[in-house]
Amino acid sequence: MRLRSAAQWLLVLPARSSGLADKNSHQPLEKRTLATSEPFYPSPWMNPDADGWTEAYARAKEFVSRMTLLEKVNLTTGVGWEAEQCVGQVGAIPRLGLRSLCMQDSPLGVRGTDFNSGFPSGQTAAATFDRGLIYRRGYAMGQEARGKGVNVLLGPVAGPLGRAPTGGRNWEGFSPDPVLTGVGMAESIKGIQDAGTIACAKHFIGNEQEHFRQVGEAQGYGFNISEALSSNIDDKTLHELYLWPFADAVRAGVGSVMCSYQQLNNSYSCQNSKLLNGLLKGELGFQGFVMSDWQAQHTGAASAVAGLDMTMPGDTEFNTGRSYWGANLTLAVLNGTVPAYRIDDMAMRIMAAFFKVNKDIKLDPINFSFWTLDTYGPIHWAAQTGYQQINYHVDVRADHGSLIREIGAKGTVLLKNTGSLPLKKPKFLAVIGEDAGPNTSGPNSCSDRGCDNGTLAMGWGSGTANFPYVVTPDAALQAQALQDGSRYESILSNYATSQIKALVSQANVTAIVFVNADSGEGYINVDGNMGDRKNLTLWKDGDALVKNVASWCSNTIVVIHSPGPVLLTEWYNSPNVTAILWAGLPGQESGNSIADVLYGRVNPAARSPFTWGPTRESYGTDVLYTPNNGNGAPQDDFTEGVFIDYRYFDKTNSSVIYEFGHGLSYTTFEYSNIRVQKSNAGKYEPTTGKTSPAPTFGNFSTNLKDYVFPSHEFPYVYEYIYPYLNTTDPKAASGDANYGQTADKFLPPHATDSSAQPLLRSSGKNSPGGNRQLYDVMYTITADIKNTGSIVGEEVPQLYVALGGPDDPKVQLRDFDRIRIDPGKTAQFRGTLTRRDLSNWDTTLQDWVISKYKKTAYVGRSSRKLDLSIELP
Ligand code: NOJ
Repeated sequence: MRLRSAAQWLLVLPARSSGLADKNSHQPLEKRTLATSEPFYPSPWMNPDADGWTEAYARAKEFVSRMTLLEKVNLTTGVGWEAEQCVGQVGAIPRLGLRSLCMQDSPLGVRGTDFNSGFPSGQTAAATFDRGLIYRRGYAMGQEARGKGVNVLLGPVAGPLGRAPTGGRNWEGFSPDPVLTGVGMAESIKGIQDAGTIACAKHFIGNEQEHFRQVGEAQGYGFNISEALSSNIDDKTLHELYLWPFADAVRAGVGSVMCSYQQLNNSYSCQNSKLLNGLLKGELGFQGFVMSDWQAQHTGAASAVAGLDMTMPGDTEFNTGRSYWGANLTLAVLNGTVPAYRIDDMAMRIMAAFFKVNKDIKLDPINFSFWTLDTYGPIHWAAQTGYQQINYHVDVRADHGSLIREIGAKGTVLLKNTGSLPLKKPKFLAVIGEDAGPNTSGPNSCSDRGCDNGTLAMGWGSGTANFPYVVTPDAALQAQALQDGSRYESILSNYATSQIKALVSQANVTAIVFVNADSGEGYINVDGNMGDRKNLTLWKDGDALVKNVASWCSNTIVVIHSPGPVLLTEWYNSPNVTAILWAGLPGQESGNSIADVLYGRVNPAARSPFTWGPTRESYGTDVLYTPNNGNGAPQDDFTEGVFIDYRYFDKTNSSVIYEFGHGLSYTTFEYSNIRVQKSNAGKYEPTTGKTSPAPTFGNFSTNLKDYVFPSHEFPYVYEYIYPYLNTTDPKAASGDANYGQTADKFLPPHATDSSAQPLLRSSGKNSPGGNRQLYDVMYTITADIKNTGSIVGEEVPQLYVALGGPDDPKVQLRDFDRIRIDPGKTAQFRGTLTRRDLSNWDTTLQDWVISKYKKTAYVGRSSRKLDLSIELP
């Protein structure tokens, strides 16, 4: 067995400290002090009385009390990159009947397997503005994960939120609006966990771009940096924008949270005590476990006391065979550096999340290997040992194809329609563009979808799944055309200009042009886009294609597949462009979904979950593409505060192409009769009192003999991470020449304190998500919506609020619904405003406060079409 150096955790400094994001960001970097993150210790331990967790806590307590120290460490430490079948696994507890837990991507299905579904992206699901559909998507993904033997599905995503429209992974999440994302998070989590799989809310927090998220990755692209990016976010912005959807996730009972790669105010997220201890566990009362993103852990003891509960994939970096935890954590607990209550709390949190979704300790086996689709192979992939059957090719898709088709259609936004849609047996349909056709090398030919060939139905990176098939727009539209007796021709290239001209210039043609833009995760570079998009234009000369077709054909319909906004400025207003649809990233049923909308089988009602600005600059925010701090951590100052997306366009009074919340229907609606009803919510009572002192569960031997690798029991697997020491001499086991000299001095004050701790005033005593009263309904707003057209349709009334203060956005989304209304009929929309909805974060008080300013509620069909308004009494 190899030596694992304890120096890694003894010499690395704990999380740097304090304060809010830098206020002097206009100064050159060398002249100003960098943003810092204040310390928060000790790490909050679980609350046995937390709502929704009491039974899980009791069962976890019973289980953890029987565990040895080695078993606890085994549960918290990944076994290493490629050491077992899943993208991440922790050690098993065979003595107590628990097999190794399997963590597996992604937020849109099970990644890297076969006979699974490829769901629409989170962003496309958000565009449905349909809570029920988002829940059903989560439930179906949870079922598929469970069917494969996955225990933690690594999604949903609220970070990135979508600060910059060019951000590479925005599509994995939902929307730059925190309320819409919060709903997306909560419904997805409930769905995934109701199906028996633990969900993982990620990436906590400030993971708004791919550039510089990891040092090694950035260096690989030729950037000379020695520390990862720091997202510098002030306290108010953090609360009112980026933390908001995570609060909803915690409130929905999420079992795990993944801390992110980059730093937050110059302290790495996975060892940032303010974030993990203070905000997540203290303020939000999160009861589940925090796992690191893959290689996002940079310290041992420091990250343990800062609130990290599980390290993924377990090794310091991929395939080093060494870990910050594993043996080092065993030793750190034995020598008292990490208090016993902390390792107990880690184990409690993991097992409580486990029992929250699992009835039985005995789990079905993991029936796939992420590393290969071969039926037989090495179970320990890195070591290439343990040759056996590793893929059972279990078909977990059930009838999810029809749900995927429905979400794809109901998530397609009709941005423009001058009357060409819906199609009714068109005489001659010409479908143009590579994006309508297949990837000619096969839908899964690019690893993790790292290319843009053929129709785009997913972005790239770890947030993907293999497709079981892709229904292309060309295939679905041709099938429909044949049924209708239409003439049908398609040209699945963006560059066959003369052929395209010859085709679409003919008489009676309805031309549908498919165009796209793509983005993904930073480890894959597609055409110079290192995850983040390098611009907002269409790929493969899409603008030229649209402009050309529109110049030759007076009935040109444009369909866009993209991971966020693209620039439409040059052609959207052309009278020959008769309709524009944004179909997002619709997943495997792409063609069927778009055909359903184009032919009116689904009357569109989706809404754009972001703003379509006229230029890239018009957003006011962008990715930081060039290091700006020498070879130190690039500094990304979120100086715009809460003003991203529509809040920024509204603040600057700028015009947009299509606003947040915009989307058309084939029928029409009329809004009237807004009313407000005040509820008796009572006065806000800040939380007071203290926790109980930190509990410990079970004893452990202090005889180092009990911790040595039991080579007589099983063989050492190459590069595998174990909890065992290699010798009974602690100094030798640590591999640290200064062992014992620094351990007691280097952790921050209170890091090991086990005494009862004061509760934060904004936290809930027993209510995950924060002070229970923040969620009290203060007002109910109703309005009448009439379908004034001649066909049945669905409408998405949106409730916005103006908080009235000089620093507040003009309006902010607070609630919405998607209502089916028959022609000529009127339905009532009902939306609520909670205390949190009406509050601002007070940085001095450290609590939510309702300001003295006059507040107005609006009900309308988009963020800029606010038909009705009423002042709140
Ligand atoms: C890194 C990604 O950031 C994260 O989202 C993913 O879950 C892990 N890799 C595991 O693949």
